[in-house]
Amino acid sequence: MRRTLVLAALVTALPLTAAAQTKAITLPPDHAYGDLTPGPGVEVAQRACRSCHSTDYIVMQPRGDAKQWEAVVTKMIKVFGASISDEDAKAIVRYLSTAYGK
Ligand code: HEC
Repeated sequence: MRRTLVLAALVTALPLTAAAQTKAITLPPDHAYGDLTPGPGVEVAQRACRSCHSTDYIVMQPRGDAKQWEAVVTKMIKVFGASISDEDAKAIVRYLSTAYGK
């Protein structure tokens, strides 16, 4: 009896799953305020730093040197679990301390 119930639930759930897969959601573009300043390394920063929040968080920060930006990038990795390679992290710190340096 129990097996039949589970099967029935599966069969009714299947069409729903199929329908959900065809749904596409287009998010509005980020506000221009958060656009990163062009420069070497900007693509890496965009790729690595936009998966959890917009780059508004970057542009609204006070300008800072490499030490300050390194602390930010390290915090994103160690505290919030951003998966960023050492190499990319270095490139991002270089980019941020140039584009948003003192
Ligand atoms: C794994 C998710 C994740 C990624 C990837 C990520 N962040 Fe964050 N970031 C967060 C969270 C969570 C907060 C805190 C949000 C809050 O306080 O509302 C935050 C906040 C910030 C802040 C605001 C100041 C602070 O320290 O709270 C800055 C600046 C920032 N992130 C920069 C970056 C940069 C630069 C990158 C790319 C190297 C990045 N983030 C990538 C999760 C992430």
